[in-house]
Amino acid sequence: MQEQFRKDVDKGLSAFPKSLPSKYFYDKRGDGLFVQIMHMPEYYVTRAEFDIFKNQTQDIIDALQLSPDTYFELIELGAGDALKTKVLLHLLDKGNYSFGYFPVDISHNALDKLEKTLKSELPNVLMKKMHGDYFQVLESLKNPHHLKVVLFLGSNIGNMTDEVASDFIYKLGSNLSANDKLFLGVDLIKPASVVLPAYNDSQGITSEFNLNLLKRINRELGGDFHTDKFLHQPEYIESEGVAKSFLVSATDQKVSIEKIGKTFYFKQGEKISTEISRKYNDEIIGDIIAKTDFKLIRKLTDSRKYFANYILIRE
Ligand code: AVI
Repeated sequence: MQEQFRKDVDKGLSAFPKSLPSKYFYDKRGDGLFVQIMHMPEYYVTRAEFDIFKNQTQDIIDALQLSPDTYFELIELGAGDALKTKVLLHLLDKGNYSFGYFPVDISHNALDKLEKTLKSELPNVLMKKMHGDYFQVLESLKNPHHLKVVLFLGSNIGNMTDEVASDFIYKLGSNLSANDKLFLGVDLIKPASVVLPAYNDSQGITSEFNLNLLKRINRELGGDFHTDKFLHQPEYIESEGVAKSFLVSATDQKVSIEKIGKTFYFKQGEKISTEISRKYNDEIIGDIIAKTDFKLIRKLTDSRKYFANYILIRE
């Protein structure tokens, strides 16, 4: 992990334009900041998807074509605290559905906490926490006799380019069997007046989240970034439907990173691209799915049409 981080930072900061992969946001501090972002009034994403889970729980079960007498496995990629999924688990439990819940996460801490809360809140639900890489976990669960439903929520897919997203969904499908389902949560294209504040909350948490990437480089790779000399800058053009986050150098400066053994130069106003957060519509989702073995069967949206859950079936 550390070696890959070192290589990716070297590659990203040596390139023009400079970039850093957003997956490195999520160290312990970054995880905590992201939880705070989800509670920010401007970050509508989590609440909009929660609205769907809360108000259309039975529709979700119907759209997934689940029946109480057929055992299925509910696999959640990047489960975190599973706040939304718990609403669904409660109704499945109440309806005596026969299923196993397999939350997958790279954080041991998140999985342990989730196990504890599920044991007390939903003692009848068969739960097995799965730590590690999504594809390794799916590989380990491979069994064509068990119907599978994979949840990939929170518009996490939006942090990938469309090409990578297609490859990712294709790869998910290659670990599943015909009739298995993918329940995909995506943020929808909407005006900049709504999207931009979500990536620039007034309490400065998103800015801190973005800058934590430089602090992580300082901590783990011996960098000497002066993080007060970089500014968080979100951008969004509605016609493109992609929110982008940057860190902008406030001055001409140089930064040395001990473990890379290099000094990097930044011009005043030079940007490091740190994240894309893709927003979607039916056409974009259709193009992504066309390159996979899935077919779209249903779409659920929240009351404001901010967010959509697409239900895909493996052909
Ligand atoms: C995890 N992911 C879907 C979030 C997003 O909206 O792209 C990460 C995030 N970045 C800034 N705020 C939230």
